[in-house]
Amino acid sequence: ESDNAAKGEAMTMPINLNVNGNAVQLSVEPETLLVDALRDQLRLTGTHVGCDTSQCGACTVLLDGNSVKSCTMLAVQAADRRVTTIEGLGTPAALHPMQAAFREHHALQCGFCTPGMIMSAVDLLSRNPNPTEAEVREGLEGNICRCTGYHNIVKAVLDCAQKMKSAPVREIAHG
Ligand code: FES
Ligand code: FES
Repeated sequence: ESDNAAKGEAMTMPINLNVNGNAVQLSVEPETLLVDALRDQLRLTGTHVGCDTSQCGACTVLLDGNSVKSCTMLAVQAADRRVTTIEGLGTPAALHPMQAAFREHHALQCGFCTPGMIMSAVDLLSRNPNPTEAEVREGLEGNICRCTGYHNIVKAVLDCAQKMKSAPVREIAHG
């Protein structure tokens, strides 16, 4: 226990997972949070940390297509699973329809909440492609925005739902 090297060796375990379509192997400690593995080891810093109370949703990613708060999950829980972060959704040249809708409707100001908000919105539409305004608000309840008052975010999600009807984007980020 006083031997740090031996302790570090013993405490680290390799995990395989798929991140944004790429197979990756990480060495993580049992208590490493998924958000820290993504940000610190993979440098996927689009996933934000906005609280230490599991409330803000800035850290939201998709795990096997379902939104999760990556600050509430251990990295080892993502072993052999598929993680999608905001970096895997679209590129500046080819925005995901949700990203395009957020831009079009001015659904962001400081942008801090935006990656998590977009991941939650994508998850919402994958489960409910034609939500009402109330369903959008309810679906995004786990994501806090301190800037926009939510109105433009809701507008963006509703508009995206309309646009995606003709070409649903259910599965994303196959690399
Ligand atoms: Fe706030 Fe995860 S960082 S919910
Ligand atoms: Fe600033 Fe949402 S745009 S927190």
